[in-house]
Amino acid sequence: MCDRFGIDSPIFGFAHDVETVAAITNAGGFGVYGATRRFPEEITEELAQIRRLVGNRPFGVDLVLPPGMPEHNSREAIQAEIPAEHTAFVQQLIERYNVPQASKPGMRTRFIRSKEIEDAQLRAVMESDVDMLACGIGAPADVVGEARDRGKTTLALIGSPHHVPKAIAAGVEIIVAQGYDAGAHTGPIGTYSLVPQIVDAAGDIPVLAAGGVATGRHIAAALAMGAQGVWLGTAWLLSEEHQGDMHPVNRDKLLQAGSADTVITRSESGKPFRQVRTGWSQAWEADGAPAPLKMPYQDVLVGDLLGAIEEHSIEPLIHSGAGQSIAYFKDVRPVAQIMQALIDETAQALQTQGQFLRSE
Ligand SMILES: Cc1cc2nc3c(=O)[nH]c(=O)nc-3n(C[C@H](O)[C@H](O)[C@H](O)COP(=O)(O)O)c2cc1C
Repeated sequence: MCDRFGIDSPIFGFAHDVETVAAITNAGGFGVYGATRRFPEEITEELAQIRRLVGNRPFGVDLVLPPGMPEHNSREAIQAEIPAEHTAFVQQLIERYNVPQASKPGMRTRFIRSKEIEDAQLRAVMESDVDMLACGIGAPADVVGEARDRGKTTLALIGSPHHVPKAIAAGVEIIVAQGYDAGAHTGPIGTYSLVPQIVDAAGDIPVLAAGGVATGRHIAAALAMGAQGVWLGTAWLLSEEHQGDMHPVNRDKLLQAGSADTVITRSESGKPFRQVRTGWSQAWEADGAPAPLKMPYQDVLVGDLLGAIEEHSIEPLIHSGAGQSIAYFKDVRPVAQIMQALIDETAQALQTQGQFLRSE
């Protein structure tokens, strides 16, 4: 990985803001910008900003391209299909917590996921000079093919060994094996069980381990399991660079959270999503709560409310996606420090490996 990309360590970092992504790359890793909620013109501008910050060093962009999304960006059409029970439940949450209206749509309702918007996002990515396209959910063969033709490395995140043949058939060059521990959208198989299975199924395709990686001990373990590097998301939430995007209440909740304080809920997006447990996840788990809708209906149902909760600082409901590794992050540090600690500890952990059997 290091030779292929000219990076110093095979540590890939996913983040939702330009500064953190650039800092990961500038610290010798490989930063990847989560752009799935950005308008196409924002993607063009933000990828150019990252390029200015990293110079010739490599960075990537991540889009979520789930199959089965509607053709057009029509909120009204989706809204019309939302059951009255769900609308009433959300209204009752708004009243119980006294949430004023948001002044603008939330992150999940700025636009509605559709093929139309995905195509425009992909145009922005293809025409940029970003070095890698990471496919978060779904890796369509035509998208992978075009990115490769344009000289971009292609990568897919997967959570089950069953998805390996499809990813390989689509032409991806790197697979991220993302286990259950991971923050945000995640699957049912634990990282330890998942990574070696995906390594075996992937053959010559290199694999990065994701989900629960927080220390050099985890990185040494990932290498021992056959991964060629690691991919981290939760680790950067408490980086100094990311704090511009972080609500202070969220920061405190993250700083205090242990591994058992995260839960998987479909209430965020319609797909299983790991986040810190709060009044939000508990409301959706309570007796009488309706089952969350599928994506993108749940986005439309809750998107504005999620925006209002942050805008008006509704403390009990404020929450963030985070993985079980959040337990390891107890202070706010610059990306370069987080990276150096990972590298130093990996070297130390690798030194002690090979001392498993009694020498005599
Ligand atoms: C807050 C948050 C948001 C995320 N959003 C995305 C996303 O939009 N697309 C994606 O492919 N992965 C997303 N991820 C998952 C990361 O890419 C990564 O696989 C995961 O964080 C690795 O596990 P870890 O959280 O234990 O480090 C997100 C992770 C977090 C913590």
